[in-house]
Amino acid sequence: MADRLHTPLCDMLGIEYPIVLAGMAAGGQAQSTAPTPVKLVAAVTNAGGLGVMGDNFANLDELDAGIKELRSLVGDRPFGVDFLLPAVRAEVTTTNKEEIYAQIERDHPNHVAVVEELIREHGLERAGLGPSEPMSTDLLNRKIEVLLDNKVPVFAAALGDPAMMTERAHDQGMQVIGMVGAVRHAERHVAANVDIITAQGTEAGGHTGYISTMVLVPQVVDAVAPMPVLAAGGIGSGRHLATALALGAQGAWVGTAFLTSEETNIPDDHQQQILRGQSSDFTTSKFMSGKNQRSYNNAVKQAWADSGLENLDMPLQGILQEPFTRAAKAAGRYDLVGNPSGQISGMLNERRPAKDILMDMVNEARDTIEGLQKHL
Ligand SMILES: Cc1cc2nc3c(=O)[nH]c(=O)nc-3n(C[C@H](O)[C@H](O)[C@H](O)COP(=O)(O)O)c2cc1C
Repeated sequence: MADRLHTPLCDMLGIEYPIVLAGMAAGGQAQSTAPTPVKLVAAVTNAGGLGVMGDNFANLDELDAGIKELRSLVGDRPFGVDFLLPAVRAEVTTTNKEEIYAQIERDHPNHVAVVEELIREHGLERAGLGPSEPMSTDLLNRKIEVLLDNKVPVFAAALGDPAMMTERAHDQGMQVIGMVGAVRHAERHVAANVDIITAQGTEAGGHTGYISTMVLVPQVVDAVAPMPVLAAGGIGSGRHLATALALGAQGAWVGTAFLTSEETNIPDDHQQQILRGQSSDFTTSKFMSGKNQRSYNNAVKQAWADSGLENLDMPLQGILQEPFTRAAKAAGRYDLVGNPSGQISGMLNERRPAKDILMDMVNEARDTIEGLQKHL
């Protein structure tokens, strides 16, 4: 039996196994509820995968401190940081959230009424807007400066186009991963000169597209060859990893499965939804951010569907929801918060250390690939 599972991408990234922890942020700015806190990212990197940290930091100083703490835990081993770079944003002329909210109240009173009714119906105490700065090109640029200053080994860009920073990243010796949900996005990322593409199928947790992993991955592999591709969306076992390799990917970008780890900081309600839910409990909606996102079904998602209203564009929908979401969190009602998670939850039912999740995936993938020989 071969004693390891290794692809050319592993050498490119300097890792042992072709498994990457998806950088995940879930609408919060706190490490205390982060899906990928520093300790989980370090655990995956130290187990031989690539840990990627999601953007759960209140401000640039905390982001900088988080990167430095991570580096102190992993030494010379590689790691990444992921930001959302939304491609389509509603036109906002100010970074003042109160002003944006006032604009929403003027332009979209029916949407505000849905939120007010949710607060009333669930007996919550209305919360104000959070302190975080709304997403803007200027804020993104300042965050990217922090990554460049720290020479973070890998930058992962979700949703949008990283063209504005790939050249500077390469100058710093960094590698860039671009995420895509369709072949046309992959072509844009190749033009932006990224190093690796993640092809994410619709079954994924969080922001996601409309094409399944099985269908998307080989098309992206063919479209961007010889650029290496990571498969994402619904990968939760070694059988899935073996399949991803068979589809031509050189590794897997794994999100929801690592949310069953002991090291994640997602609230207990969210982790229990993943451990107990069926695949059909995780559907998509735009109610959280204005972009298509897969999460556990709850009363709030249903209320938006029942309203018949189109959700607002990013970042307006997230700001619109804040008074409710912050009120629900303050009341400990994490069942009323949108909890991003994927369809793979239906076969995840054990909470374990991240290292065990990773090694079981590696070992099962190897056994699967070897077992397939019997069909020849
Ligand atoms: C809780 C959660 C938060 C996420 N946040 C982000 C994010 O901030 N940036 C990003 O690139 N992808 C994010 N994603 C998507 C993941 O990067 C990844 O593509 C997805 O989890 C893969 O599918 P899987 O969940 O089936 O493993 C998130 C996913 C989840 C479940």
